[in-house]
Amino acid sequence: MIAPSILSADFARLADEAAAVAGEPGRGADWLHVDVMDAHFVPNLTLGLPVVESLLKTTAIPVDCHLMIDDPDRWAIGYAEAGSYNVTVHVEAARDPVALARNLHAAGAKAGLSVKPGTPLEPYLEILRHYDTLLVMSVEPGFGGQEFIPQVLDKVRTARRLVDTGHLTLLVEIDGGINEDTIEAAAEAGVDCFVAGSAVYGAADPRRAVQALRERVLRASAHRDWSG
Ligand code: DX5
Ligand code: ZN
Repeated sequence: MIAPSILSADFARLADEAAAVAGEPGRGADWLHVDVMDAHFVPNLTLGLPVVESLLKTTAIPVDCHLMIDDPDRWAIGYAEAGSYNVTVHVEAARDPVALARNLHAAGAKAGLSVKPGTPLEPYLEILRHYDTLLVMSVEPGFGGQEFIPQVLDKVRTARRLVDTGHLTLLVEIDGGINEDTIEAAAEAGVDCFVAGSAVYGAADPRRAVQALRERVLRASAHRDWSG
């Protein structure tokens, strides 16, 4: 799955920018990734619930909200109630991530848990049993256009193994520095869903960029090490 991040899109034309990556299943964007930043959990400030509510009215692409905010226990539910398909919170910010996942599900959304590059997975394996998505950050959250940190692929391999052996049931998503040069390594490590901001919206033709990334993933899955 490819999830273009609108962080690199034109915020004054979000409906058009969403339409620019829409397409038939298997061709256009599978999810539309929306980065919510509060200038506290991360140094940057982007957009919040009113913008997400408006965006949801303009696109049929499932919206994937990535909340880089303090106190997600309080704020995440609104994004689920608004109709987001998946709402991801940061484990470093959540106070009661199990209750949070339950509340997101009750509001009709999938629940995602994200880990910053330096955050290990091991302490959170029990908590992850309550989640549908694990978002592995491959840059420090806050800004688009940063360089991919390949060391996080160890966490992807661990998560992949736990999913493939039935210990976890979730999608493994990666976010940060994904482009045509880095996506194959991520695919080989076992990522299911690839977020790409600058690689899609920095391209002259965003839909074509989504297709190019997808082709790389298909090529890499031929090399995937299924032995774990
Ligand atoms: C960064 C955001 C990403 C960002 C990725 O904190 O979470 O979603 O849009 O941008 P690129 O793909 O340009 O690294
Ligand atoms: Zn993101």
